[in-house]
Amino acid sequence: MDIHGARILLTGASGGLGRAIAQELARRGADLVLTARSASLLEDLAARTGGEVRVADLADRSDVEELCATLGEIDVLIANAGVGGNGSVLESAVDSIDRVLEVNLRAPMVLSAEFARQRIEAGRSGQVVMVGSLSGVVATANSSLYNGTKFGLRGYSLAIRQDLEPHGIGVSLVVPGFIDSEGMFADNGIELPAFVRTRSPSDVAAGVVRAIRSNPAEVYVSPPELRLTATLGGLAPGISEALQRRLGVADMSAER
Ligand SMILES: NC(=O)c1ccc[n+]([C@@H]2O[C@H](COP(=O)([O-])OP(=O)(O)OC[C@H]3O[C@@H](n4cnc5c(N)ncnc54)[C@H](OP(=O)(O)O)[C@@H]3O)[C@@H](O)[C@H]2O)c1
Repeated sequence: MDIHGARILLTGASGGLGRAIAQELARRGADLVLTARSASLLEDLAARTGGEVRVADLADRSDVEELCATLGEIDVLIANAGVGGNGSVLESAVDSIDRVLEVNLRAPMVLSAEFARQRIEAGRSGQVVMVGSLSGVVATANSSLYNGTKFGLRGYSLAIRQDLEPHGIGVSLVVPGFIDSEGMFADNGIELPAFVRTRSPSDVAAGVVRAIRSNPAEVYVSPPELRLTATLGGLAPGISEALQRRLGVADMSAER
């Protein structure tokens, strides 16, 4: 789909990756609808990118419903909002399980299903871009809620892509690895071993641009060796676990 002139709803617009995505899309002539909970951050961003601000809490089902009511006017839905959900499963209180599920999984599912229904009813094509993670490909200790929702988002995205293809609605999953300088990983201040390479928020924005323009099933925004390690880890979880124990990955996650 052409980005110039497209009306694009971006969730998680106030975050590290959201801001980079919004700026890149604005530069390419998109008409943006920016959403998150932080009104002031969204207003600051909109002053730079243009577009409209819609404050919404994706953990609040009535806010998600209100967003759904306006999806008919949207050409591209980018479900980028996400929360970390780290720590041992033994420390996961039910309300934090609910919150991570609502934001990372239920909201993208409800928004994309409603978006597709409204576009199809209007006889229009459209594009959904989900922002997943390498944590949707390989599991790590102390990351169960995040892994659970990102694995779920990946399965959901790849499945609805097949459901919606005959109706002219594209679905792509953008899969970042570790992103430096801004965003949830950078904010955590975790030091990676020297051999682990990162990517930047603008690389993620470029991945989103590619997803909108060409509708690939997945766009990996990670160095090839990290993608390969994650993919092999997903295929052989037992070996991956042993390797992670040896590298101390569990201790790194526990620090988050
Ligand atoms: N940064 C990375 O290294 C990395 C790697 C892989 C995948 N990702 C994925 O990339 C996406 C963006 O992450 P990021 O790094 O930009 O994180 P971030 O800086 O923490 O931003 C998270 C965004 O989600 C929004 N959000 C959180 N809870 C919300 C809620 N209840 N309702 C509405 N919006 C909510 C936040 O807005 P408010 O707080 O204003 O509501 C913010 O805009 C996420 O899906 C994340 O899983 C990031």
